[in-house]
Amino acid sequence: MTTLDAVVYGADELVAGPAADGRSLETYEDGAVAIVDGTVAAVGPTADVTAEYPPESANHAVDADGQAVVPGFVDPHTHALFAGDRADEFAAKLRGKSYQDILAEGGGILRTVRAVREADEETLLSNLLAHLDTMLAHGTTTVEVKSGYGLDTETELQMLRVIDSADAVHPVDVVPTFMGAHAVPEGWDTDDYTAAVVDEQVPAVESQGIAEFCDVFCEEGVFSVAQSRRVLEAGAAAGLTPKVHAEELAHIGGTQLAADVGAASADHLLHATGEDIDALVDAAVTPVLLPGTAFGLGAAYADATAFRDRGAPVAVATDFNPNCHSHSMGFALSLACVEMGLTPAEALTAGTKHAALALDRTDGLGTLREGAPGDAVVLAAPSHVHIPYQYGTNVVDAVLKDGSVVSTPTHESYDREVQP
Ligand code: NIG
Ligand code: FE
Repeated sequence: MTTLDAVVYGADELVAGPAADGRSLETYEDGAVAIVDGTVAAVGPTADVTAEYPPESANHAVDADGQAVVPGFVDPHTHALFAGDRADEFAAKLRGKSYQDILAEGGGILRTVRAVREADEETLLSNLLAHLDTMLAHGTTTVEVKSGYGLDTETELQMLRVIDSADAVHPVDVVPTFMGAHAVPEGWDTDDYTAAVVDEQVPAVESQGIAEFCDVFCEEGVFSVAQSRRVLEAGAAAGLTPKVHAEELAHIGGTQLAADVGAASADHLLHATGEDIDALVDAAVTPVLLPGTAFGLGAAYADATAFRDRGAPVAVATDFNPNCHSHSMGFALSLACVEMGLTPAEALTAGTKHAALALDRTDGLGTLREGAPGDAVVLAAPSHVHIPYQYGTNVVDAVLKDGSVVSTPTHESYDREVQP
């Protein structure tokens, strides 16, 4: 027995995914999508889809007249599990303090580490679930979440357990990344701490089987390329696919490292060179750009067009963390257009299909094509252009996850349009 979960029909614009040229979108006017057993069964003109899948037989029938329907957003880089409050650091940065100054004074990541070590597991879980609720309301249906505010075996494992629990109970799919090498904890020498990550944390994470990726902050004054390589190679031997925070504050060679170790993604990349980009393309490493971080720091933005023009599948993420407190992929996509040079169509692909690539998802995630997960966003607007255009506004009207309507953030009247 199969279940017709949802039929969304009559959309002014239905975005199935990127077009063959990689730059524009495959769209349907008066489009529809049918979701069966959590998976897209048909997409196309409303008349064709509804002939085979009548809305009246579906658990959720959504009339999207006057609205656009796009794939659920995939947010491939966050540090969404944390405790404490760093709003005062935002204010200090506005007064001219740098991110590195704050970290050197024991603030920044190290301050969040203290707060996470003091928090109990229940508090951590409820913090993460609250953030996932907000992300879902902004259209995110899959999100990567990193550990890295524990910086000791026990707390890193605790963070990964919490991420796992959140994934089990929340509609958003949560992809777990181990990031013991996020900073050097107070009182440690960097080489000694690198050895602790490699010899203690990685084996402990492997034995629990609760992470999919291993990330490292390869940065001047944090982990060198050699230290980062040791962590990523140990992670890979333990079955964790590498990811790299590369060339964010300075150019030290993290992008080349990402290519060498066959990382799923290299992230930040503000200082990546043309040669770096070519290395990523040759090694099929997805570049993940994080314009919200640059916005919050008042820093320069990565040049997304340089990546695009060299043939890289540019992905965009929120980098949601205490230093970049934005849950909204829509806002990240606005910045990707206005500050990094992408078109609205390219930005949408960066936040859906290409973002899925950064998480090694090749099951159609980030599209609404036949066989893809039934994750869709119905906009309170008639085209995808409204996502970046309406910056600072949540244009999400309804979110479907695996074919179920799981969030209706902007329209009180939505109940009248969704049956039952
Ligand atoms: O991706 N760069 C390192 N990690 C985070 C910041 C985390 C924090 O400041 O708490 C980032 O921006
Ligand atoms: Fe990060």
